[in-house]
Amino acid sequence: MAKKRVLSGHRPTGRLHLGHLVGALSNWIQMQDEFECFFTIVDWHALTTAYSDTSGIRESILNVVADWIAAGLDPEKCTIFVQSDVKEHAEMHLLLSMITPLPWLERVPTYKEQRQQLADRDLNTYGFLGYPVLQAADIVLYAADYVPVGEDQLPHVELTREIVRRFNGLYGDVLVEPAARTTRAARLPGTDGRKMSKSYGNALHLGEPPEEMKGKIAKMMTDPARKRRYDPGTPEICPVYALHQAFTPPERVAEIAEGCRTAALGCVDCKADVSGRLAERLRPLREKRAELLAHPARLREILDDGAVRARKIASRTLAAARDAMGLGHEW
Ligand code: TRP
Ligand code: SF4
Repeated sequence: MAKKRVLSGHRPTGRLHLGHLVGALSNWIQMQDEFECFFTIVDWHALTTAYSDTSGIRESILNVVADWIAAGLDPEKCTIFVQSDVKEHAEMHLLLSMITPLPWLERVPTYKEQRQQLADRDLNTYGFLGYPVLQAADIVLYAADYVPVGEDQLPHVELTREIVRRFNGLYGDVLVEPAARTTRAARLPGTDGRKMSKSYGNALHLGEPPEEMKGKIAKMMTDPARKRRYDPGTPEICPVYALHQAFTPPERVAEIAEGCRTAALGCVDCKADVSGRLAERLRPLREKRAELLAHPARLREILDDGAVRARKIASRTLAAARDAMGLGHEW
């Protein structure tokens, strides 16, 4: 039986951080054996919010691919490509835009949220409103059965399903309705206790030098109840403990929790423990990443090869969609 298809996308946001690794990326790495996977860096999506300053996009793409491969995505097993290298996405987006009612887009939660959050940018644009239609195009072109995403993306996958149903209802059964697969991993807090995110400036990056990471962890927020060394703490509310839960073996995590609750363990030692572990754990990744980035031409080749493979599938779906809509030549 043919493998089920998976597609997911990531914006060219620059270096990836531990939150990405614990969330989406480790999931994707596991999926690449079981499924036929497509992972795309969505540079057109980046334009929807960052059109006024596009200077970082190219470099971000290289950083994302290098981090993906260094972390364990294998370009022999899965297809890694840049969205704008596969022009079929643009035409599919156009076709789907014709049948997508405006109210469906206006009620997407991220539409209002992002316009408020990114109030310094003018997001009153056609492209920004149509963002989820572009995402739907990404998904349907590969007839993806599953779309692994974080919870914030569920409304987009739901919208994709609605667009697919509408398309198939109008023109016949051409597009495949995808299912979301939510990344179940807990959100990793950043150094200040909020969700780890580039925009909060609280991220620990996969490729950063161990000394730098150690310094950030040393300054990390802990349970505020532990003002003095002998004050007991509640590990569950401490972001350092969340790092332990993600990267430390369970027996040791239990010891740490106990040590924190009884004040047998101090925060300085607790932090040194996790810094050391992370330095070790990330070492192969850091080395691979540096090697990949030292040879950008090879990364470019991987992306070109990915685009060729992606286009093969995408062009077939697009031809079928055009045909179903009565476009193109019959012969
Ligand atoms: N919208 C997603 C995000 O901002 C990125 C994305 C674009 C995506 N196309 C996709 C995710 C297709 C999954 C499938 O994170
Ligand atoms: Fe956090 Fe560790 Fe300090 Fe407990 S001992 S508050 S888990 S840093």
